[in-house]
Amino acid sequence: MKQFKKEEGRRRAKEIAMERKEQARLHEQGLGEVGRSGRHGARNQDRHKQFVRWLIQTFPQLQTESAGNTKSLPIQVLDVAGGKGELAARLSMCHAINVVVVDPRPADVANCFETVVLPRLPKKWQQRIRQQSDEDANFVSKKINSRVSQLVTTLDDRTINSAAIQDAIRSSSLLIGMHADSATEAIVDAALAADKPFVVVPCCVFPRLFPQRNVEREDGSHIPVRTHQQFVEYLLQKDSRFVKDLLPFEGRNVAVLWKGEKSASNNGTRPLTCPRDGTNRLAPYNPTHTSAISMAIDMLHLQSNDVLFDLGCGDGRMLIKAAQRVEGIRCVGIDIDSTLIKCGQDSIAKLQETSPGSYLDRSSIDIRCGDVLEEIEAIGHAPTRSTGETPIQKMTLLDEATAVFVYLLPTGLEKIKPLLDEAATRRQKCGEPFRVVSYMFKIPGIIAKETSLETKAKCPLYLYHWER
Ligand SMILES: C[S@@+](CC[C@H](N)C(=O)[O-])C[C@H]1O[C@@H](n2cnc3c(N)ncnc32)[C@H](O)[C@@H]1O
Repeated sequence: MKQFKKEEGRRRAKEIAMERKEQARLHEQGLGEVGRSGRHGARNQDRHKQFVRWLIQTFPQLQTESAGNTKSLPIQVLDVAGGKGELAARLSMCHAINVVVVDPRPADVANCFETVVLPRLPKKWQQRIRQQSDEDANFVSKKINSRVSQLVTTLDDRTINSAAIQDAIRSSSLLIGMHADSATEAIVDAALAADKPFVVVPCCVFPRLFPQRNVEREDGSHIPVRTHQQFVEYLLQKDSRFVKDLLPFEGRNVAVLWKGEKSASNNGTRPLTCPRDGTNRLAPYNPTHTSAISMAIDMLHLQSNDVLFDLGCGDGRMLIKAAQRVEGIRCVGIDIDSTLIKCGQDSIAKLQETSPGSYLDRSSIDIRCGDVLEEIEAIGHAPTRSTGETPIQKMTLLDEATAVFVYLLPTGLEKIKPLLDEAATRRQKCGEPFRVVSYMFKIPGIIAKETSLETKAKCPLYLYHWER
């Protein structure tokens, strides 16, 4: 454990040093954040005060709702990685807002209020609170206990589905993460999954802890997220409704937020990320670049009698392209994230409306919400393929797919391998071809027939002719 902590400390120090270097470089180019230096702002005594002020201005509903609308639920803020509880102390005591702090270290919020916040409040407020404390020595702790509670835990993939965290998210009106380090992205994903407004102020990036994060550059290529600026961009790219704002304090002061507007300007090109849903997750959402989609279609040599599956299809962009390009082909997509599927279905409906007569119709494409791994149970069973034509909505990978596209993590590819094996065996028995293109990652243990580097993002595509 000691050794682990030492290594963790060293790793963090290295990453902070890297970020400082990047920050200094940006400053030299006039691109840095507000403030004199690239420091993280940990020594900026006013940052919580300024952040709370900004919160109240940016989310005015916090004040109006907490001001006593007894009919609606009391306003509650979920403060992730709340540390010693200064935000909770300020929000609860100065603005009568209920707060749930999520942090693995227990916070003494009352003590934080008395020692850190109170001495910096205007004299009049100090006098009033001291008077009330003279009348009742427990005045502060009683007030804070009635408004602040804590979940002593982290917010991450392991804890996100716990009943306590889910309850707290459901009953909160706003999720916040001020320098929440490794929890930052989890806050954004949790807020999206629950349709709640949020604000995060990213701090450390932890590129080695999150190597799968990629950010899209202006030329359409993708690069791994290594710097603070790239991390902010990466979060913004999750959804076109997200915006950033600069907070009035030094150091890491860029906030990424969504005010919760229901009139989504999301046009399907930047759909929501998938909720974190435990062990069956084969990959996080990251759309395949358009140029790679075209190349994958070419590599698969798709014909009109093919049935193409995209396992983890996201918003179905690969299948839409294939259905538009190859007359007669049937394209089926499965994704665990219903929001992405909804986005894709909306795009298909729009395209069908605007380009009638194209190959894209109800019998050529079907994208559905589901878990790809569910089909594994059917492996031991006899094929259910009927003699007549199966309607596209009933087509399964094992019984109908002749071509497959995947963009999944290596661990995900390993998990779906038995499915691909079985589908290949069944096709071979019928004398039909079966080929797979995997974007970005090789399928472990199989030799690719062809490898292509997609020109724009320089990301590989691997073609497999699956012969059993
Ligand atoms: C990297 S994205 C690829 C999206 C799409 N194929 C594309 O190329 O644009 C991986 C997708 O797999 C989905 N996914 C992860 N685990 C899954 C599972 N067990 N069943 C179905 N979809 C899954 C995610 O929701 C995500 O949309």
